[in-house]
Amino acid sequence: MKRVILVTGTPCVGKTTTAKALAAKLGAQYINLTDLARIHNLTSGEDEERHTTIIDEEAMRMKLSESITQAETDVVVDGHYAAAVTPPELTTRVFVLRRNPKELRNFMQSCGFDELKVYENLAAEILDNCLVEAFQFHTEPGKVCELDATSKTVDELVGEILEVLETGICCGSVVDWLGTLEEEGILDQYLKA
Ligand SMILES: Nc1ncnc2c1ncn2[C@@H]1O[C@H](COP(=O)(O)OP(=O)(O)O)[C@@H](O)[C@H]1O
Ligand SMILES: [Mg+2]
Repeated sequence: MKRVILVTGTPCVGKTTTAKALAAKLGAQYINLTDLARIHNLTSGEDEERHTTIIDEEAMRMKLSESITQAETDVVVDGHYAAAVTPPELTTRVFVLRRNPKELRNFMQSCGFDELKVYENLAAEILDNCLVEAFQFHTEPGKVCELDATSKTVDELVGEILEVLETGICCGSVVDWLGTLEEEGILDQYLKA
């Protein structure tokens, strides 16, 4: 039975690196949603403020379903909105990668991201946006697995994913950035409007 594995999470948590390594290990087809959108022109306009294109989610859903159905191997789908555009009935498991906001901010700043993007992504990570979206669309118990990628190597992460796929056991929810930052009294340094 063909498995369809989603790798989602806030930008810069390590989705692409992990998903590609996972696909290689499984001999699976790797689908990157940013590439898919570009190749098939699945956009519906430009977001001027963010200098990014807006995805036509319906067109994306159709194209992705077609690619998954045609695949003859397992499929790994990589994208921060993968959970929203991959039909649940085609999805085997959703892995939501998480990265500590401190490490995430350092990383984004070292990459030269502008302030707007840094704090927008940090808010998304702190408020569990991708996890919430995953649970919203994929309601079957035990389907959504959260993995803390902080300070882990790609091999470790891939190992954890393979273990979940083999045993079927996954932890729904593991991190609480909001709680830990608040406890440390530094939430306002990370959650800026
Ligand atoms: N486990 C990891 N440990 C350290 N650095 C990582 C890890 N995974 C990814 N990276 C680095 O973090 C950056 C973002 O990774 P990437 O896979 O492109 O993230 P995403 O696809 O989620 O935006 C890359 O420069 C990558 O080399
Ligand atoms: Mg990526």
